[in-house]
Amino acid sequence: MSSVTTRPTTEDDITAAVIDRLQGTPDPRTKEIMTSLVKHLHAFVKDVQLTEAEWFEGIKFLTDTGHMCTGMRQEFILLSDTLGVSMVVDLISHRKPAGATESTVFGPFYREGSQPRANGENMATADPNGTPCVIAGRVLDTAGKPIAGALLDVWQANSEGFYDAQLPTHDQLQMRGQYHSDNDGRFVILTTRPVAYPIPTDGPVGRMLKATNRHAMRPAHVHFKVSADGYEPVTTHIFDGGDAQLKKGDTVFGVKDSLITEFTEHPAGDTAAMKGAKVNGPFVTADFDFVLKPAK
Ligand code: BEZ
Ligand code: FE
Repeated sequence: MSSVTTRPTTEDDITAAVIDRLQGTPDPRTKEIMTSLVKHLHAFVKDVQLTEAEWFEGIKFLTDTGHMCTGMRQEFILLSDTLGVSMVVDLISHRKPAGATESTVFGPFYREGSQPRANGENMATADPNGTPCVIAGRVLDTAGKPIAGALLDVWQANSEGFYDAQLPTHDQLQMRGQYHSDNDGRFVILTTRPVAYPIPTDGPVGRMLKATNRHAMRPAHVHFKVSADGYEPVTTHIFDGGDAQLKKGDTVFGVKDSLITEFTEHPAGDTAAMKGAKVNGPFVTADFDFVLKPAK
């Protein structure tokens, strides 16, 4: 039961009355989150002196964001990402672990059930015009011991900057693979060199970026979800250190220095650099070790 007996009449009374109405929330964490949300939402409205027309525009924006969502498109994740909220959640959830690989945004393009692949297998057969790229390394624990049988779930955009879900053939899983580390913790992925690309701008998030004069670009990267029994999984990317977009910034604020790696160019036929993958023509290589910390 509310302890406020008189009707709220001022802006501040309303905030107190709503918070008071939350007192009976049975779950303490829900109560904490709702109380803070109401406090900050009311403070925001008062801070900018929001007009009725602006409030209605905000409602329309959120409605449009919801309408844009489908099984293939998650506009709310995009909104969270472009407002930096996803990275704040990432940073407070995964404080920089000593020696372990840092995490970054999940993004909206992960799909369950991609194809299991042998080490060296090409996950980019749908991208014949891209520059071949061998990504190789080891999965290690924080003491430097190899982790055998770790799962590396890998996904990326094609060399034109589109994820499979954005293509007319969106029902097919492309540019993805599930690799496993071998007994020495080693993995070898054959793909195409990632390129910088714009996030989708044909929805409300695109309108927000345009209204705030922001670019929509992400620097070239490959996504990884790396997991192994007994270890904390990490969702992350590796970024191509040679990509000019790195200097211009990431529209979702996902770059961390430790995730930037060199992509080295090789002439056709440099078999030593192929690490067992079958590569035609000139190619690039990236070496990256993933380090997992023990599960809590
Ligand atoms: C991505 O890298 O796939 C991505 C991340 C955040 C927003 C849009 C795309
Ligand atoms: Fe991406």
